[in-house]
Formats: sequence, structure tokens, C-alpha cells
Amino acid sequence: MNTPKDFIDKIQESVTNDTFVRLTMSRNADRLASLKKVLIKLALIKKEIQFSFVFRYETKDVTKNFPIKNGLDEIKNLLGHEFWIANLFTTQRDFVFEKNKKGKIRFRNSAATFTEVPQKRHDKSKQHFLQKTNYLQALGILNANGNVQKDKGDKYKQIKKFVEIIDGLIKKNPQVLNQKPLRVVDMGSGKGYLTFALYDYLVNTSKLDAQVIGVEIRENLIELCNNIATNSDFNNLSFEKGFINNYDLPETDVLIALHACDTATDDAIAKGIQANAELIICAPCCHKQIRKQIKNESSLSSILNYGILKERQAEIVTDTIRALILEAHGYKTKVFEFISTEHTGKNVMIVGQKSNHDFDKTMYLQKVEDLKKQFGIQEHYLEGLMKHTALK
Ligand SMILES: C[S@@+](CC[C@H](N)C(=O)[O-])C[C@H]1O[C@@H](n2cnc3c(N)ncnc32)[C@H](O)[C@@H]1O
Repeated sequence: MNTPKDFIDKIQESVTNDTFVRLTMSRNADRLASLKKVLIKLALIKKEIQFSFVFRYETKDVTKNFPIKNGLDEIKNLLGHEFWIANLFTTQRDFVFEKNKKGKIRFRNSAATFTEVPQKRHDKSKQHFLQKTNYLQALGILNANGNVQKDKGDKYKQIKKFVEIIDGLIKKNPQVLNQKPLRVVDMGSGKGYLTFALYDYLVNTSKLDAQVIGVEIRENLIELCNNIATNSDFNNLSFEKGFINNYDLPETDVLIALHACDTATDDAIAKGIQANAELIICAPCCHKQIRKQIKNESSLSSILNYGILKERQAEIVTDTIRALILEAHGYKTKVFEFISTEHTGKNVMIVGQKSNHDFDKTMYLQKVEDLKKQFGIQEHYLEGLMKHTALK
């Protein structure tokens, strides 16, 4: 073997001979790219053996299935171009393709790690994230037969995606995983779709000792959700009536606020920081507070002349300031899209993870000041809250 084509032929041969176990591609030529790895296995999809690709991004996995021929073309496009390392595992040998900075290609092979090919049933593991379905029926997401209701496809996808993200965050964070009990509070839980799914995932799928509380202003939703929790035997899930900003937050490891309206997201972040939560996860909703103040005298001012662009700019500035304030309180923070825009427009997620790293609070707060100055903002609501928040 001495060309990428030889490596592709090896893959094809192992598929034909049923010795293919899996293929991984890593070391993206662009080190800053968010796509870090591609994991490829075979799966039985619609009665046909196909390649199932998992594109592993920094913050999410995207799965795509390809018929064998198209999958090989896809591998050809990625191999040696986007990705410089590929590991092919077969039941006969393991093969490594490696390209170095000078463009030199090297192949190695070694004794097979695996002696058996994995089952090719279509991977249903994502569906097993959610163990019980009765609450999804009670909430009107699934029908009586357990199928997704016609108009609830987007919501269902959002629920599954959200649970997948939490799964990743918790598994990467032993401080959270080891909490007994693991205390989770969902601020602005609404009808509780995501709160129920999260509880189901934590307690029934992951077998964690978890206590989950949903906080919501609307009394009718509290009653509905508590009834469904009781009927589902979700004993450590409860819903409480409360305003986020004056809710007396108990000890909390994971604080969540998904699509809490406008500054309710800031109230939730402030509560999470104050409680020293290990993880603060929020998906902001509307961003009105900054929009009223924002102006710009610089070369960026034209952006603010167009309504929708001003709105987006306000969103970006608001969420950047939220992320910076989290960083300023020792939270390593990521901002990413958690579901494709075709399922919801409100798809930005801010995740702050408490860390013991050294951080320069003054530097982050200065960045907030710089942004405010640039956009003529007097005060971001979260900033004001933090001034009056006593930290533990
Ligand atoms: C858009 S819904 C989102 C519900 C749920 N988190 C989800 O993502 O499916 C926002 C919910 O937050 C509640 N809410 C808004 N502001 C709140 C506040 N300050 N305190 C408590 N609940 C609030 C609203 O009543 C509403 O049910």
C-alpha cells in the first residue's frame, strides 16, 4: 500500500469480505476547525448495509448514513485532505494511514485489535436515551401508539438533541457525574418536555441518583407536570411555582434555563453562579434589553440600520457578554448551535463549566466594558445582577 487509493481499496475489500470493524479519521488539517473526528461503522439501514458516519464536532455529533459507494467517495474526499490520520480496524489486521506536514504519506499495519465484526443492526442507542415514553404521550409529543405526533417532530428532535448534549457534558465532567445526589434545577421549565426527558435520562438510562426540580411561574403547568411526574413514578422530579429572580435556589450542581424569556436567562445565570453550580446550561430566547440601548458610532453602525441585523447584532452582543461574565466567574464557557435552525430559530446554547483553572477576572470584565463602549450600552442586565449577587 502506498497511495490513498490503496487504503480505500483496503476499506472496500474489508467491507466485501465482511472483516470491516470500523474506521476513524482524525487530525484535521485545520487545527481550528470544529470538526475533530469522523467515526465510521457499518449499519443495517432499510435492509441495506450502509456506512454510518458520525461527524464529531467540538460540541456535537452529527450522524449521516451513506450507501457503500457514496461512503467510499466521502472517505476519499476526507482522507489526506481534511484528515491526516485514518485507522482502519478489520478482523484480519489494523491499518493506519498517516500524512505528515510535508505531505508525506505513511502506512502501517499491525495485528488485529478485534477478532469479531460488530452487529450491523441500526444503532438504536439514541432512542434508548429515553427509557419511558408515557410522559411523552401525556405531554402530547407521542401518540397512543408511541409514534411522534405529526406536528411534534421538531420538538421531539429538540428533546433528543438536548438529552444527547447533556449526556456529553455530564460524561466529560466527573465532578457532576460523582455528585450523590446530583441536583438539577431547570429554570422556566414550561410544559416540562425537556425536564422530563432529562430526568428519564439521568435516572432511568444512566442510573444516577438525581433530583430534578422545574421552576415555572405558570401554576397550571406546575400542576400538569407534577401530575405527570407522579403518574410516571418519577419520584425525585418535582415542579415548583416561582419567579427565577427571587427563587430560593437550593444547593445545585446543574442549572438549566432553556428559552427562558429575555432577561430571565440572566436571572438564571446569576442564580447558577451564586450557587456555584458545576454546570450552567442556557439557551437564550428573545434579547430585548440590549436592543433598546444598542448604538454604534463606528464603521459597524450600518449594521444597526437594518431591523433584523440589529436584532441579530443585539443577540450576539448580549450572549457574548453573558459568556464573558461566566468566564469572569471561573466558568469555562462554550457557545454553540445545539440544533439545526430548521427545527428552531432559538438554537444557541451557552454552557459554562465551573473550572479550577487560573483566570483573569479583570481581563474578562474589561472585555465586557470594551464591548459596551463599542455599542453604546450603559449596562447589561446580568452585569447589574452580578453587582448585587453575594458569591459563595
Ligand atoms: C419558552 S418557554 C420554555 C419552556 C422550556 N424551558 C422549554 O425549553 O421547552 C419559557 C417558560 O419560562 C417561563 N418563565 C419566563 N420567565 C420566567 C421567570 N422569570 N420565572 C419563572 N418562569 C419564567 C414561562 O412561563 C415559560 O413557561
